Amino acid sequence: MSRRRNCDKPTECRIENKTLSVNPHTIPNDQIQAAAALLRAGETVAFPTETVYGLGADASNPLAVRKIFEIKGRPVYHPLIVHIAATSQLPAWARNIPDAAWRLADAFWPGPLTLILQRSSQVPNEVTGGQDTVGLRVPDHPIATALLHAFGGGIAAPSANRFGQVSPTTAQHVHDKLGSRVGMLLDGGPCRIGVESTIVSLAHGEAVLLRPGGLSIEAIENTLNKKILLAQATASKVRASGLLDLHYAPTTPIEIHPADELWRRAHQLAKLGHKVAILKLSDDNKCINSNGITCFQMPLLADEYGRDLYATLHRIDHASFDHILAETPPVTQEWVAINDRIRRAAHSGHS
Ligand code: TXA
Ligand code: MG
Repeated sequence: MSRRRNCDKPTECRIENKTLSVNPHTIPNDQIQAAAALLRAGETVAFPTETVYGLGADASNPLAVRKIFEIKGRPVYHPLIVHIAATSQLPAWARNIPDAAWRLADAFWPGPLTLILQRSSQVPNEVTGGQDTVGLRVPDHPIATALLHAFGGGIAAPSANRFGQVSPTTAQHVHDKLGSRVGMLLDGGPCRIGVESTIVSLAHGEAVLLRPGGLSIEAIENTLNKKILLAQATASKVRASGLLDLHYAPTTPIEIHPADELWRRAHQLAKLGHKVAILKLSDDNKCINSNGITCFQMPLLADEYGRDLYATLHRIDHASFDHILAETPPVTQEWVAINDRIRRAAHSGHS
């Protein structure tokens, strides 16, 4: 079963009865070929995926992979996801692939799901941070797909941001943060999902959720026909930087408050002369700017909120606010990834 089975119109793609607009940005084939040639030459290419922009390098070239860590300022022991063009490439990168992995790949690739599996011998240590596992994903974005096909191999790519900062969801975000250090930047417009992929480990038997993300836990459980375990950051044997508490933090400190406390706190800070940005969620027409307080009305639907969250945080960081106050999101299934990212961002110790 392919999630793209109904995607036959150029501008519209129907996935599970949901109409999603496909990015209208296209990139001429000669640019895709130039990007693939750069990857072959051991350089980096930033490219859009449906979740966030990735900073890519040839996954089989240790020297190229090291450049990613240098550009991001990321500790070398944090493993990278290898992006592949199709599920059929899985056996080149992983071994002892369990049946559950094939089922999830068939159901959700291309899409926002990363599988952690036992690595094959061809995967360099630089990609896995020395671990015996590898993260793999088939992205669902026409530019990523074209690049992967033109290149032919696997592309190791973390999110294209400095380590610990908010992931980029537009080419401008990548340009602002990484600038000329990237070999080439492919502009695919804003990312459709805007939150990173869901990461599930199947490397040690049971399915374990390492990071909630663009694919719901419910969808995974329905496909596997059982509950998946939640990784405990401290107890986990694996190292996923997404599990660090300080990850995904904007430079501006962020606090989370329920609707009724949001404004009281905002006025308290504004009185002290602080510049406050509010991420408002409840729809009561009370998103009004006042002295020192700027209100950003966030979408009420989880998938739209997810798509806008990082872009809003980037905007706020640019505008030099002193505080971000986010209204507590709902705690239902579809808000799990958003709650996770906001909670981590708020845990930065500034507040
Ligand atoms: O949506 C996404 O996943 C984006 C796009 C570009 O594909 N990528 C992304 O990569 O978010 P990154 O590196 O920013 O986050 C990937 C997470 C990290 O927390 C990393 O530690 C974890 O995946 N990871 C990668 N390989 C792993 C492995 N073998 N075992 C455990 N965690 C792994
Ligand atoms: Mg990241």
